[in-house]
Amino acid sequence: MVAAETLTAQKRIAMLGPPGAGKGTQAELLAGRLSIPRISTGDILRDAIAMGSQLGRQAGPIMEEGGLVPDDLLMGVIEERLQREDCARGYVLDGFPRTVPQAEGFESLNPGVTADMIVFKLEVPKTELLRRLSGRRWCPKCQATYHVESDPPREDGVCDRDGERLILREDDKESAVARRLTAYERQTKPLIEYYDDRSCLRRVDGDREPQVVHVELSTYIGVPR
Ligand code: AP5
Repeated sequence: MVAAETLTAQKRIAMLGPPGAGKGTQAELLAGRLSIPRISTGDILRDAIAMGSQLGRQAGPIMEEGGLVPDDLLMGVIEERLQREDCARGYVLDGFPRTVPQAEGFESLNPGVTADMIVFKLEVPKTELLRRLSGRRWCPKCQATYHVESDPPREDGVCDRDGERLILREDDKESAVARRLTAYERQTKPLIEYYDDRSCLRRVDGDREPQVVHVELSTYIGVPR
């Protein structure tokens, strides 16, 4: 039995874990449950690429290769996003912070944030990560995510929400996945110690059914189902 923790009025939650760990899936479920926004830096960047903005032109080639977008670009993106009104009651960060400089930048934007923040680290074996990423299908219009085996759309290859044709994300191709996993090991893993030192990190077994993982996360934040 995990101990329930109650966040302060503003709920600030971050999802940490390697590519395919289920950060997006769990962030979406938690955000829905708490009626706060899920803020996915990956989705924001993919939107920027689709719009052909300057940010998109800078981030696109890096993401396609499986590298991390430079911290200074990311900080501008997140600062602007967190100022919006829908963040007043809190948010679930999906894929941010991803480096120690980003975590430091986030703390300087929100002094004292780690006192009442929870960072969930989803733990999933590498073989399962590879299975999830190779089977993931993605809607380029609404960014909904599916899996060919474990979470298929109602109609094969078609998004349930908007009927758009589903595709394999560029960075889910094998060579990019290998680079994303390396980037996680080198640049994101140091965050584990960073948040452990600040007593915010909660390790969660992410290698279970999505709803089972969600129940555990909900219990941690004091809203058990
Ligand atoms: P981003 O979009 O954040 O990708 P990621 O972190 O690599 O994570 P993924 O989206 O691949 O996986 P996920 O953990 O969210 O898993 P999901 O729930 O989708 O970032 C993409 C790129 O943008 C980065 O590589 C970088 O270039 C750039 N970027 C973004 N943020 C950045 C930052 N802060 N700094 C610098 N650069 C940044 O699930 C995956 C699949 O598994 C799905 O098919 C799903 O259906 C399935 N699944 C999920 N949970 C389960 C489960 N419990 N059991 C079985 N299947 C499951």
